[in-house]
Amino acid sequence: MTDTPDFNDRSLSLGLARVSEAAAIACAPLIGRGDEKAADQAAVDAMRRQLNTLDIAGVVVIGEGERDEAPMLFIGEEVGTGNGPGVDIALDPLEGTTLTAKDMPNALAVIAMGPRGSMLHAPDVYMDKLAVGPGFKPGVVTLDMSPAARVAALAKAKGCARSDITVCVLERPRHEEMIAELRATGAAIRLITDGDVAGVMHCAEAARTGIDMYMGSGGAPEGVLAAAALKCMGGQIFGRLMFRNDDERSRAAKAGIVDLDRIYDRDAMVTGDVIFAATGVTDGSLLPGIRREPGFVTAETVLMRSKTGSVRHMRYRNPVA
Ligand code: FBP
Repeated sequence: MTDTPDFNDRSLSLGLARVSEAAAIACAPLIGRGDEKAADQAAVDAMRRQLNTLDIAGVVVIGEGERDEAPMLFIGEEVGTGNGPGVDIALDPLEGTTLTAKDMPNALAVIAMGPRGSMLHAPDVYMDKLAVGPGFKPGVVTLDMSPAARVAALAKAKGCARSDITVCVLERPRHEEMIAELRATGAAIRLITDGDVAGVMHCAEAARTGIDMYMGSGGAPEGVLAAAALKCMGGQIFGRLMFRNDDERSRAAKAGIVDLDRIYDRDAMVTGDVIFAATGVTDGSLLPGIRREPGFVTAETVLMRSKTGSVRHMRYRNPVA
């Protein structure tokens, strides 16, 4: 899909970087303070304030939750000045609230923007996810393969041994069986305690991060954000929504999802060209976190455009009172 006539991704992109920067900087004083909620709130407030300065008629399609459970940046909230192109926005002002509260690596402020209708309106349920970086033929691994078969297929495609493959997995009791199966193949596993947007993004820079593949279940909204990142960086991601009860199924219906078993690939989750910005909150292997020194704060942001495949790293240093 090409841009709608007035979605000028190039000129909007710098504004988007300011939005993720603002969220990351605002929650930085709460890094390592043990208060997830306060850190999230600071990021949400700042992201919303900055978003509302942009000349867009934006609608949040992936946000902090449904209108009745999130006071701000809820799904369906209109953001921006209203004077500009109609855009869809997927955001997570603080991806890794616990990582931030505990000062653990890879917490990010994340946002993606595209023309109206460019991103899957994923309900806030779990998604079974599978991702690999660029350079492999489409479907080299699939959600229908067993974890062991995925390792074997990726090792074959890479021309390496299964023991040379590293898989990133969220450390959760629900993944114990999968982890055991992966271990039996000889593959290495990078366990993360939170933050699967970063987990997936690691696959796109395998040579630097050492991660070849991401798999397991996590939030569906994070799945769409990760798909937006890979649409810019290259790579494949597959996701299947998971429903635990009727309430979750009705959330899907509300979001207009009819086929509950559908496997979405990257371009089904993100159908149009998007811009993606992420700012490091805590230090991580993708981005350094916020640095606070007397009189200054420094933030590093990666800003990417799917249309061009451009990846821009920006360091922002600002005096603070
Ligand atoms: P939050 O920052 O909203 O707490 O999300 C962190 C996260 O680890 C996501 O990256 C991931 O998709 C999800 O939580 C996993 O959910 P759960 O903790 O229920 O397994």
